[in-house]
Amino acid sequence: MARAVRATQVELDAAVQALRDGDVVAFPTETVYGLGANAQHESALRKIFELKGRPTTHPLIVHLDSARFLHRWTRDMPAAAARLAEKFWPGPLTLVLPRADNISELITGGQDTVAVRVPSHPMAQQLLTAFGGGIAAPSANRYGHVSPTRAEHVREEFGEAVRVVLDGGECRVGLESTIVACLRGEVRLLRPGQITLTQLRREVGEVASGPSADAPRMPGSARAHYAPATPLRLVAAGQLEREIAYLSRDGVRIGVLAQRPPLGSYPSVTWVNAGTRLDAYAHDLYAHLRTLDKAGTTCLLVQDIPADERWAAVRDRLTRAAAASNPDEAGAVEGAAPTDLGDAP
Ligand code: TXA
Ligand code: MG
Repeated sequence: MARAVRATQVELDAAVQALRDGDVVAFPTETVYGLGANAQHESALRKIFELKGRPTTHPLIVHLDSARFLHRWTRDMPAAAARLAEKFWPGPLTLVLPRADNISELITGGQDTVAVRVPSHPMAQQLLTAFGGGIAAPSANRYGHVSPTRAEHVREEFGEAVRVVLDGGECRVGLESTIVACLRGEVRLLRPGQITLTQLRREVGEVASGPSADAPRMPGSARAHYAPATPLRLVAAGQLEREIAYLSRDGVRIGVLAQRPPLGSYPSVTWVNAGTRLDAYAHDLYAHLRTLDKAGTTCLLVQDIPADERWAAVRDRLTRAAAASNPDEAGAVEGAAPTDLGDAP
């Protein structure tokens, strides 16, 4: 059901009060829901890690309402970063920059950098403006789970443990922000998102991507991330029915996330056709994974997605989810017996 994307004054007051009290607040952004705390309140920051079950060495993104107080968080703003901020903020871009002094180690993970972003969701903007400071926020899911793209997902994750959950409807993008480090004269893509490498290069020229020896550490980008509870693997479009036939012999309940309808009717299969449009696919991906998790399936088959660079963010999340489900297999799963699918993480 459609919902207003602006919070009422009563909702906003409750959220701001919670932040001032050192409590955490869940709020919508255009990418995924965040679990936010006052970025200058040490014990509030600690609550984020406790609630999520996340190691305290994993740094947090500081959310700001605009770039106007960026200097309070960063030491300097390389020209390339200024250019990217100008082009993509407010929006689904996180910049990793040299940090200012006096920032909590819980935010930086003990590194000499800080991640900052200005989200565009109207309700995130309302909250940040009303609060007036930085809000540190990871995605509002328990550590290693799929990110939430609806307020009800946040409640599923945390129940009443989160004092305020602002409901801003479904997140428009549906995948976490593109993360770009601008450090030591280099621009490097650390996490793909809706904003692509091609778009970044159009603005600033050379952009490195992938791991390198001196790239900033990005704890939390380990492969055991973005994983549904049910083991998942990627299967070529033309192999889906064959895999289903194979697995069905053993009476396994199968979830399928495809980009087309099934070719036959399969009683043991919950089939989701996510379509071929990238925006819609990304928007619905995490909600679909949650639905399939709840359908009582023992394994999820995901139709392999296009090799196109625009699909890089979707590919990144699905590849990680598959790796998390099959820690020993590294992709060698063709025709795997159900017992080889690995335990749910
Ligand atoms: O779209 C998003 O970015 C969402 C919404 C809520 O803004 N947030 C999000 O936060 O995805 P989180 O904590 O789930 O993922 C942030 C990633 C983590 O992998 C973390 O290690 C990395 O950003 N990160 C944060 N600070 C960093 C830093 N200083 N250097 C390198 N990586 C950093
Ligand atoms: Mg996360």
